[in-house]
Amino acid sequence: MTVATAVAGTNIALVKYWGKRDEALNLPATGSLSLTLDRLGTRTRVAFDGGDGGGDLLTLNGARADEKTSRRVSAFLDRVRARAGVDTRATVVTDNSVPTASGLASSASGFAALALAASRAAGLDLPPNELSALARLGSGSAARSIFGGFVEMAPGTRADGTDATAHPLAANVQGPPGAPPGVWEVRLVVAITAAGEKAIGSTAAMTHTARTSPFYQAWIAGVDADLAAARAAIDRRDLAALGAVAERSALRMHATALAADPAIVYWNPATLAAIARVRALRDASPATQAFFTIDAGPHVKVLCAAEDADRVAAALAGVPGVLRTLVAAPGPGARIVEAA
Ligand code: PMV
Repeated sequence: MTVATAVAGTNIALVKYWGKRDEALNLPATGSLSLTLDRLGTRTRVAFDGGDGGGDLLTLNGARADEKTSRRVSAFLDRVRARAGVDTRATVVTDNSVPTASGLASSASGFAALALAASRAAGLDLPPNELSALARLGSGSAARSIFGGFVEMAPGTRADGTDATAHPLAANVQGPPGAPPGVWEVRLVVAITAAGEKAIGSTAAMTHTARTSPFYQAWIAGVDADLAAARAAIDRRDLAALGAVAERSALRMHATALAADPAIVYWNPATLAAIARVRALRDASPATQAFFTIDAGPHVKVLCAAEDADRVAAALAGVPGVLRTLVAAPGPGARIVEAA
């Protein structure tokens, strides 16, 4: 097969990944835990058809991609070609329903869809864990978008990264005794607080944090406890417990970045106003169980129960500086949608 099309949903980490144990292989310093979403994602078609004659040809959201993005995608395709024994250049057409490079995790769905489409188009039929390791080489968080629902990423211990892969959590299929099987139907309300690309990409920011933040080691040391607490909360379907972990993980990740020298500040005034609104929702009577998380950008994502999602979205839409909101549900892992 020389052509394949794949789609993948983005994922939002509830226990954050922020730091690498190996930069070349994109190996994370710690585990992380996320939720794959249904409605924010990427669709990518890869054809090993000779590209533009000289190199790979990448079209991103209807326009030819810039140099930097094209180089990153070509480097990724080189790994797929090496593995499959293919040396033909490719044409890649990719469309994001997430604003690219804005801290809304477009690289997670982007490299998950690319890993699946490129490997299939190159004639490889990789098992999910190998697909996850492949996606990780493009972007650490992309390893998690290979799977649906709640997903945990293992940091692995091997130097070659073959054990640094994600896996779906049992809560996706089992649930607590008496509860119906299936994904826990939480919602994530996304409050977009800025247009345009983020100031500093996550890889550069992680590296800078690791080198200069006096809080970095403390951050790394705390992640395993957060993972254990998040896993336990998901097993019990305990939203308040999961939300508490998500908030402290995000705040500690940002605290370690804020303490870097020079500081990395992803937030804007609307980010803080949205945090205040979420806390006010919890303090109100009657209270709404809502919990925020923030990635490498100024947007705020709020975890809540499905029945509260519209109310939470309306509350966030009223926060000064919030440009728009959208509600996402748990979604499936990366999949082939068309292969010709
Ligand atoms: O996958 P990357 O390299 O874009 O890094 C993702 C970093 C965060 O989104 C901030 C955290 C995470 O675990 O997704």
